[in-house]
Amino acid sequence: SKPALPDFKDCIEATQPNGTPINCCPPPLVDEVTDYCPCATTVNIRKAAQSFTVDSDYYKKYSKAIQKMKNLALSDPRNFLQQANVHCAYCDGGYTQQGHPNLLYEIHNSWLFFPWHRWFVYFFEKICQNLIDDDTFALPFWNWDAPAGMQIPPIYNSGVTSPLYDTLRNPKHLPPSVVNLEWFNDDATVEPEVQIKYNLAIMYRQMITQSKTQIDFFGNPIRDGDDVPKISASGTIEITPHNHMHSWTGTSVDPNNPINMGVFYSAARDPIFSAHHTNIDRLWTIWLNQLKGTNITDPDWLNAYFIFYNEEAKPVRVRIQDGLDITRLGYAYEEVPIPWLDASA
Ligand code: C2O
Repeated sequence: SKPALPDFKDCIEATQPNGTPINCCPPPLVDEVTDYCPCATTVNIRKAAQSFTVDSDYYKKYSKAIQKMKNLALSDPRNFLQQANVHCAYCDGGYTQQGHPNLLYEIHNSWLFFPWHRWFVYFFEKICQNLIDDDTFALPFWNWDAPAGMQIPPIYNSGVTSPLYDTLRNPKHLPPSVVNLEWFNDDATVEPEVQIKYNLAIMYRQMITQSKTQIDFFGNPIRDGDDVPKISASGTIEITPHNHMHSWTGTSVDPNNPINMGVFYSAARDPIFSAHHTNIDRLWTIWLNQLKGTNITDPDWLNAYFIFYNEEAKPVRVRIQDGLDITRLGYAYEEVPIPWLDASA
């Protein structure tokens, strides 16, 4: 068997979940794709988003980086909307599989989920660093798995003029609304303290009780020639809280018409997307370090690769196996309390 690989050269029109076509191809490849070496020699700490106020220097830097991304020409793949398109094209059928023009490529609902999104936020962070000329900058993580982070963090909610704000969030879920990690388009009437307890129990269930094996946690293998929609199965965390937090954040009052975060083609148009995904990435590290999980050793996972645009707008090839040691990627996560570790209900 061989790894499933995207045919990055030929981006095609993607399809939104409601069937509407959408052209979300990032700018076409001009430069030759080169192999990328993640060989960081220093480590930046990604911190919990709730620890920053809108008066902080951090907020100033971060919002400046995002504003600059938004201001880049659309022909530049580092442009904010084009970054959202990179995500869209990889998940709504923008690419076929290499060697299988009739099979669509997809980075959700399988073992590609954790590594692809790790690399996505990695380059997103590199682009931020580059635009503000500060290679110590690190993205924050949305710590929705702990009570201190169970609301939209203040830095993402400081008004329409903030580059970190998105008007297309569910108005009922703005602060002080407490997140519901398993939201089913229903707004329960439980008290915030009760919702917090539910959330911790959900985390315990998803990270511990139901994540005993690699397949549980990472999702099904996808190999060369697999018809992804037919055999796909997501890992525990990908479904809950990952998918549910997308819907909770971005589903409008009309559940049939989800907005930015609520649907994959547009999810990364909300700046909170990268903080949602740094937290997902952090949970991967917790599963390995605190919960004694292990990474997949199957060569079809290790050798699978993706193409991203780096901070210089050049296309680079990254293999899953090169992204497994985050020290080499130059980041680590701030240690914050993990109250769900003993929240068995
Ligand atoms: Cu590719 Cu959170 O989704």
